[in-house]
Formats: sequence, C-alpha cells, structure tokens
Amino acid sequence: MDASADGGRTAPEEPLGAEADDRRFSRKTVLRAALAAGVSLPVAMMGVPALARDLGQGGGLLEPTPTCDDGDDPTPPQTEGPYFKPNSPRRTSLVDAGTPGTRLTVTGYVFGLACRPIANALLDFWQADVNGVYDNTGFRFRGHQFTNANGAFTLSTIVPGLYPGRTRHIHVKVQAPGRPVLTTQLYFPGEPRNNTDTIFDPRLLMTVRSVGGAREAAFDFVLNVPQQPGPTTTTTTTTTPGQPGGTWAAGTNYAPGTKVTYGGVEYVCLQAHLAQPGWEPPNVPALWRTS
Ligand SMILES: [Fe+2]
Repeated sequence: MDASADGGRTAPEEPLGAEADDRRFSRKTVLRAALAAGVSLPVAMMGVPALARDLGQGGGLLEPTPTCDDGDDPTPPQTEGPYFKPNSPRRTSLVDAGTPGTRLTVTGYVFGLACRPIANALLDFWQADVNGVYDNTGFRFRGHQFTNANGAFTLSTIVPGLYPGRTRHIHVKVQAPGRPVLTTQLYFPGEPRNNTDTIFDPRLLMTVRSVGGAREAAFDFVLNVPQQPGPTTTTTTTTTPGQPGGTWAAGTNYAPGTKVTYGGVEYVCLQAHLAQPGWEPPNVPALWRTS
C-alpha cells in the first residue's frame, strides 16, 4: 500500500495547537539544566534532548535519575490529526518478530511543573507503519501504557514511514491521573522534511541514535501539572535570562554553522531552519548550541 491508502487524506494536518501553543516558553538552556544536574559540558553540548539527558555511548541510558529544569516549560501541544482512535490496546510494544521496519525504542519520563516524575501517567501512542499508512480499521501501531513508579516509559516500535504532507513523526497523548490530556507529536532529528512541515516544532525533537540496525530515542514530557517541589529540590539561585536581542532574528533562514548572538550569548546553528518566534536559541537546543 502506499500513502494514498492512508484514509484518502489530501490535506496536511493543520496546526490545531498553534493558538494553544503559546510562545511564551522560557525554556532554560540544556546547558543550564545540565550544569544543575552535574552533567559534563560535552554532554550538555550534544544539545538535542528536550531535557538534558544523555543516551550514552554503549547502549542504554547512562543515568538512572531523570533530570529536569525548573519546569516552566510544559511540552507544547500539537494537533491530534485525523487518525487517532480511542481504546488502543494496553501494551508497550507495537511490534512482533515479523513486523517490517527499523526497530525503534523510545524511552523517557513524564514530569510535572516542579520536575517531579509522574507515576501512572497515561501515554497513548499511534503512528504510521513503515509505508506511511495508519491502521484505521485495527490497532496496528497503536498502544497505550502507563509510566512506572519512577515516571518512566518505554515504547518498542519501528521508525514510522513518511506520508505526503508531513515529516516523520509519532503521535502521542499524555495524561497525568485526573488531569487534562496533552496531545502532541514527536519528531526525528535530521529529517529533510522537518524544514518544510509547517507543524514541525523542534522543541518536540527526540534524541535519536543508531545502535546496530536499530534506533534508540529519548524524550521527556513536562505536563502542565502543578506540583510541590520535592524535598531534594534546591532552586536557591535563578539565573536571570539575558536580555533578549542580538543578531538572531525570526524570519531568517539559518544554515548549519551560522553564528548568532542572543541575550548576550553566542550560539552556533546545528541544522538549517527558518527561525520563528519561540525558536530563540535558548529555547531550541536541537537547533542551537552555545559556541
Ligand atoms: Fe500523523
């Protein structure tokens, strides 16, 4: 089957969340979060994860403890799109031995606003198959699960195929117990269509690496769930963000290697993109790192 079998869709999904996704995020830099967590500078400079977390070199996550910044930046919402189906099976694996496609494991945590992990949070994933087709009659590549006591989740699936009008992505709904649902999408670094998909948001890029013939991805969600700071949380100092401004400018096409200043800090561009409001260098470590 090709993408034309994908429910007869003709128009790309609209960015329903554009209004809801206000651009007032003041995500602290990965560098800052990493420093707060005691992560080494080279790791911080990897830059890609939504939250500072390292995938390590030898397989598996290096750190047993999730890290989070001070939580003023909930994961942005995105449109549900036309292919969500309720009542997906409860399962952490969407594949079996015969499933075609590049194996992908997505791991991460679900946090609240105080960066405390949320246990028993619902995650409902759905995605296209290797050919870019959604199963709208059954439940292939659909499944829900709950975070464990540490707020962690693991999804075993494949790298979703492409279909017209979109870059590569995975849909997900995330819900803390008794709280509203966050509907959003996760993206893959280095995808050419990331530059043309109007819905794409670099704040939703996963960290992805190849391990043999498979992929390992990481993404941490921050839900808009009030929490009391934990007893171990120490936020005695709050770095005042530098004054905005500098040479960075929305509406500019930036090429990899381009250097800009923002808030008195120099950044180097990591991948080509058209800058948009809300994508200021400190907000999108997938696009900029301090130089
Ligand atoms: Fe989709």
